[in-house]
Amino acid sequence: MTYRQIKLIARPEKEITADIFEITTQEIPTPSEGEFVVKLSHLSLDPAMRGWMSPDTESYIPPVELGHVMRASGIGEVVESKNESFPVGSRVMGLMGMTEYALTDGKGINLIPKELPAEAILSVIALPGITSYHGLFEVLKPEAGQTIAITAAAGSVGSLVGQMAKNLGLTVVGVAGSEEKCQWLKDELGFDHALNYKDADFAEQLTQATPKGIDLYFENTGGAAQTPIFERMNAHGRIAVCGLIAEYQKEVPDLGPSWLNIIKKRLTIQGFTMPDHFHRIPEYGQVLGGMLMKGELKYRAHVIKGLESAPSGLNLLFDGKNTGKLIVEL
Ligand SMILES: NC(=O)c1ccc[n+]([C@@H]2O[C@H](COP(=O)([O-])OP(=O)(O)OC[C@H]3O[C@@H](n4cnc5c(N)ncnc54)[C@H](OP(=O)(O)O)[C@@H]3O)[C@@H](O)[C@H]2O)c1
Repeated sequence: MTYRQIKLIARPEKEITADIFEITTQEIPTPSEGEFVVKLSHLSLDPAMRGWMSPDTESYIPPVELGHVMRASGIGEVVESKNESFPVGSRVMGLMGMTEYALTDGKGINLIPKELPAEAILSVIALPGITSYHGLFEVLKPEAGQTIAITAAAGSVGSLVGQMAKNLGLTVVGVAGSEEKCQWLKDELGFDHALNYKDADFAEQLTQATPKGIDLYFENTGGAAQTPIFERMNAHGRIAVCGLIAEYQKEVPDLGPSWLNIIKKRLTIQGFTMPDHFHRIPEYGQVLGGMLMKGELKYRAHVIKGLESAPSGLNLLFDGKNTGKLIVEL
């Protein structure tokens, strides 16, 4: 029996195009001692994948080598096993790649409950959940009464950050790129304010929405919203730099705001990437699962179908056309 994989065969010039990938077909492998075979059911598409395609060896994770399966995280079921920790029938999650089947020794693979829908796991328990939880609680250290601004607020990470902050008693200001997304943030997720960074008067709207300034800033995008938010920061404010999606496809990076405010306002700015904290996945997973069960976190998944839809699907993230966690159902 055969299965398909997607390999990266060239680096993107700017945008992600179909010709940098190749779909190959091969026989399903047989596991050796200690290994097992996973049949994947869902893949997660994440903005970071654009960075993994670039040749940059100075980043937090090595680039995907040309000719190798494109790196991606996914969920699947063990269908053949010579590893007693992962018996046949177990459900697993990990960086198994853009592939319909994966052969693995279990390194970096986590067992996950069978009861939850795959969309719930990929949207809340997996990367978006652990990223929002870590960034909010370990980096920003929020306190009730503070005001937080969040960019890409209607995205998978931002929407969870805002809900957790709201549940703690913060005033939550979300920034997103369409009226529909802003409406969803206010009506469904209970954000205090949701502003469209594409509006010409975005900076004025932000000033109106934050009469007491901004204490915490969860940065997911860079781009148009960054300087206006930075200028509203209060003394001793904290900024978590989680992502800069507006920058990922640019040849020349934006200049960004002046550093003067870092001194004047004694700001703390910290970047973080989750691979440094993957050892905390079981701990974070427990907490996030609890929040989900209690109905404290809502999510929406944007599901596209078939392995072949993955490469072009990635562009939805950069066009802002994804409404929720972008997932490929295999
Ligand atoms: N540090 C980490 O370990 C880590 C882990 C996961 C994710 N991240 C980062 O977190 C950010 C959000 O990731 P996600 O998975 O939750 O994706 P997402 O927010 O679900 O999707 C990406 C969103 O980014 C927005 N966007 C795209 N281009 C933009 C631009 N030029 N200016 C402003 N907004 C733009 C779009 O929303 P609009 O319609 O609102 O424009 C798009 O829907 C990304 O930067 C990602 O790299 C970091």
